[in-house]
Amino acid sequence: MAYSPRNDLVRSDYQRATRELDDEMSELPSLPAWQLPPADERSAVREIKQALRRRIAASGRSVEEVFGEIEALIADRVTEVRAANAAHGTAWPSVDYSEIASGTISGAVRDLVRRRGCLVVRGHFAREQALSWDRSLVDYLDSNRFDEIYRGPGDDFFATVGSKPEIFPIYWSHAQMEARQSERMATVQRLLNSMWRCESEGSQWFDPERSAFYPDRVRRRPEGTTSAGLGNHIDAGTLDLWMKAEYQQAFRHVFDGSIEQFDPWDAAYRTEGSQYPGTTMTSAFRTFQGWTALSDMQADQGVLRSVPIPEAIAYLLLRPLLDDVPDDDMCGVTVSKTFPVTDRWHSVLLEGVSGLPDVQAGDSVWWHGDMIHGVASVTDQQGWGNVMYIPAAPWCSRNEVYAATALEAFRTGSSPDDFPEEHYERLWDNRFHLDDLNEYGRQALGLADAAS
Ligand SMILES: [Fe+2]
Repeated sequence: MAYSPRNDLVRSDYQRATRELDDEMSELPSLPAWQLPPADERSAVREIKQALRRRIAASGRSVEEVFGEIEALIADRVTEVRAANAAHGTAWPSVDYSEIASGTISGAVRDLVRRRGCLVVRGHFAREQALSWDRSLVDYLDSNRFDEIYRGPGDDFFATVGSKPEIFPIYWSHAQMEARQSERMATVQRLLNSMWRCESEGSQWFDPERSAFYPDRVRRRPEGTTSAGLGNHIDAGTLDLWMKAEYQQAFRHVFDGSIEQFDPWDAAYRTEGSQYPGTTMTSAFRTFQGWTALSDMQADQGVLRSVPIPEAIAYLLLRPLLDDVPDDDMCGVTVSKTFPVTDRWHSVLLEGVSGLPDVQAGDSVWWHGDMIHGVASVTDQQGWGNVMYIPAAPWCSRNEVYAATALEAFRTGSSPDDFPEEHYERLWDNRFHLDDLNEYGRQALGLADAAS
């Protein structure tokens, strides 16, 4: 389906819907908003917390009562997730790619993916294809003498969660681009996008049929690695989740006491605005984050884990409003550092942690863009732990803007805008070039209109 004509519609609908929302909510105490990071973070935190408490109280229930609702739901889900972990070793649903391609996924499986907010796609790519991409990445790095020129990590984004993964700041290899623009990737991304409600509040917020590229990096973790892993966190945002007007609208039911109406799959207002600027921010709207496995990985070898409860974001957003959190503290969340999920403030959620099942090269792994996740620790890792990060980012006004910057980075071999300015590939002739793009690739970079 064509998207371009609808883009104007979405923008004007957004403005109309915003006005209507303002009118509808005029009875409620308003929220102050900071469209850029506040200069005085602590006083802004105090101010927004007071305003949120007032707004929730106007619903006739206290913050504690509203939080109690979400806490009870989380407790039920944690029990369910723990039971699934005990019975099957994991609460992550798995689906064969062939079922996605043939459209034969049952309603029960779709419901389970929505309930858990995550999915493993078995055989997304042939194992040999994935292993061949892995070898070609090594060749790409070696042929450009990456070992000799690497200058070390370009950001300290993960400082608040305790460790750095083995990330290579490479974006434009043939392996990554072939996977991104493949028919198989488009097929899976369409399914993932369809888990969301893209039409709500009188607007269509994104086109579930068309992807935008969000070029990300690769991880290659060698055998024998001993790693502390990566602490539990979310990537959805930081203080902006409470402080920017677009997020205040996206989470309107969390912030106005109507928590029972909160739907983590409603895309309303999520495709407008962006996060506060930072060294590693996410400008794009991602229905799911994901990676494609380039090696076999055993479940006990330091792999990804999540709290497979999409509603947990509501808990994270309300938790700082309780009385035991200092008035100028958002449970440790601050601008430019990833949003930490910790035992101190969120122990109930962390009881629901669920690790991945064993995965094979060619499987892909997906989790809702708001979902809590981390990486387990490992000692003397058996086998490699190699992945390409490729999310599902559907075409929408926010992603269209980012796709234009991604196209410019692609043309010049630069690091994309959201990432540290390392630019290793600018002089690498054997990177993927404009002529190598197929129709999916051209559409995802905004070079062609989507086919009808
Ligand atoms: Fe993350």
